[in-house]
Amino acid sequence: MPYPIKRLSFDGFCFDVYEDVYEPAEDSFLFAENLHITPGMRVLDLGTGCGILAGLAAKKSGQVLAVDVNPFAVRCAKENAQRNGLCDRIAFLRGDMFGALRLDVWFDLVLFNAPYLPSEVGEEETWIGRSWAGGVDGRLVVDRFIAEVSAYLKPAGRVLLMQSTLTGVEKTLRGFRQQGFSACVVAERCLPFFETLTLIEAKYMIA
Ligand SMILES: C[S@@+](CC[C@H](N)C(=O)[O-])C[C@H]1O[C@@H](n2cnc3c(N)ncnc32)[C@H](O)[C@@H]1O
Repeated sequence: MPYPIKRLSFDGFCFDVYEDVYEPAEDSFLFAENLHITPGMRVLDLGTGCGILAGLAAKKSGQVLAVDVNPFAVRCAKENAQRNGLCDRIAFLRGDMFGALRLDVWFDLVLFNAPYLPSEVGEEETWIGRSWAGGVDGRLVVDRFIAEVSAYLKPAGRVLLMQSTLTGVEKTLRGFRQQGFSACVVAERCLPFFETLTLIEAKYMIA
């Protein structure tokens, strides 16, 4: 494993971030501050990056699956789980969205700090680009996620999805409602340059 480009501490955990892996930023921390998890919950952390949200979730729930399309992220997240004594609480998969998951596994909570920013053609071609670039309108990954996530939720399961006002928050809320969820904004943080980070919670209403 290469030398970490960054080492950070959060809530008693220590996370190393390696080259080609997303470095936790304002969106990760807003997400982390709003994770309400109870023991026994089965949690999926999609797009785990260095594993910060998976680690925090595992501390409370003990049953976490961490998935990322980036193989360097999966490796980094695994090492961070080891470093923090969480190996027996988190399983790891490399895969594109839900592609690597079995169809008979359902979650109480799905977390996704998604790539949500508008981008130009080619910007998603590096691993770091892929962590933020959401296509022309920023919705490429977000819309796919909204269309597919209900198949992996238990009845009354929940989703927490991070995005930004640059990507159309109302469109996301409408998209979830069309798929049978109730949805609302549960946390926000204003950033410089006319952007607000928005954490959306969606509850699956179909039993
Ligand atoms: C904004 S980063 C968030 C990383 C971490 N969860 C955090 O909060 O710091 C988005 C992550 O999603 C991953 N990702 C992007 N598209 C994906 C896809 N289609 N399937 C799985 N993971 C994906 C990226 O590789 C990246 O690690």
